[in-house]
Amino acid sequence: MQIQQLDTTDPAARRAWHAVMEHAVRSDRPHALLTTYDAFEVVATSPRTYFERTWLQAVEGSEVVGVAELELPLEENRDVGWCEVDVLPEHRRRGIGRGLWDAVVERARQAGRTRLGGEVSVDLSVAGAGFAFATAVGAAEKHREDHLLADLPVAAGQVDPAYDVLTWRGRCPDEHREAYLAMRNQMNADVPTGELDLEVEVLDDARLAASEERLMKAYDVRVAAARRRSDGVLGGYSLLFVPHGTRYGWQDDTLVMPEHRGHRLGAALKCANYAGLPGDVTEVHTWTAPANTAMHRTNTALGFRVVEHMYEVEAVIA
Ligand SMILES: CC(C)(COP(=O)(O)OP(=O)(O)OC[C@H]1O[C@@H](n2cnc3c(N)ncnc32)[C@H](O)[C@@H]1OP(=O)(O)O)[C@@H](O)C(=O)NCCC(=O)NCCS
Repeated sequence: MQIQQLDTTDPAARRAWHAVMEHAVRSDRPHALLTTYDAFEVVATSPRTYFERTWLQAVEGSEVVGVAELELPLEENRDVGWCEVDVLPEHRRRGIGRGLWDAVVERARQAGRTRLGGEVSVDLSVAGAGFAFATAVGAAEKHREDHLLADLPVAAGQVDPAYDVLTWRGRCPDEHREAYLAMRNQMNADVPTGELDLEVEVLDDARLAASEERLMKAYDVRVAAARRRSDGVLGGYSLLFVPHGTRYGWQDDTLVMPEHRGHRLGAALKCANYAGLPGDVTEVHTWTAPANTAMHRTNTALGFRVVEHMYEVEAVIA
């Protein structure tokens, strides 16, 4: 078995890497939300910006049997790397996962990183190997979220009459950018992250624009924002991605600013996004910490059900 770095200039090699990732993950996690091939193509062929990414593969003969990804943040959190390791089911328990992990650790150390983090998701009804593997390589749990899934349509929520809902797709319109950036940064600062010791990412207009541009290549990006009628102030937003060519959405941030809480705006904003989706989008995924009682209740009231537990784990590699 050999560990190689993916040649991102080779389209056939990119396709093979993605196919192995998909097969390996899907066999343990029927509800996994995976990076689509199109989205992977965008990331694998774009120049690096705020993150540097490396893709590795374990090869036997000419067959790729396992893959790994290493992501190095270049702005904040320069002591950390994030990774994922996936091995085809028929090639497991032969040290391939550990070999990929060791290669990831070596590269992360070379880049000066002292901690390696990752997400391990465990299906509620399929016993997967991810958590045992993470423990075996020395990673410890730092935070847990539930992965929830809802079928669309959901029962529509009422919008508090003191607010109206604005929606946009793709790039945030200029007139709302300042308020939207303030909310995005409030979200990054507020979201519960358990014992994960991470610097908060700070978005400025250039960084928001770069992320909007990249995301739009692979996703239909939809935002709903609540505007207080009395003064036009934006009080919250909800962000939804629909990967191109799929029938599911991925519910990302939902934030209601502190002085606008208590009006059920979170549920109303999510519903506004779902109501605008084409009819062939029939499922939405989301993640919420069980300790985030308000959002967890909002989600279950909308019909979301827990399908996986997602553990954020971290290993010290200094
Ligand atoms: C997790 C995964 C990568 C392990 O790959 P692998 O090649 O089987 O891993 P290894 O053979 O190197 O195992 C290393 C150690 O992990 C632990 N481990 C791996 N699978 C395990 C299982 N099913 N039950 C218990 N322990 C397990 C063992 O301690 C093992 O050492 P040992 O075989 O000497 O006892 C693979 O099962 C997988 O791709 N799962 C789906 C994706 C996933 O969950 N990835 C982890 C997220 S980063």
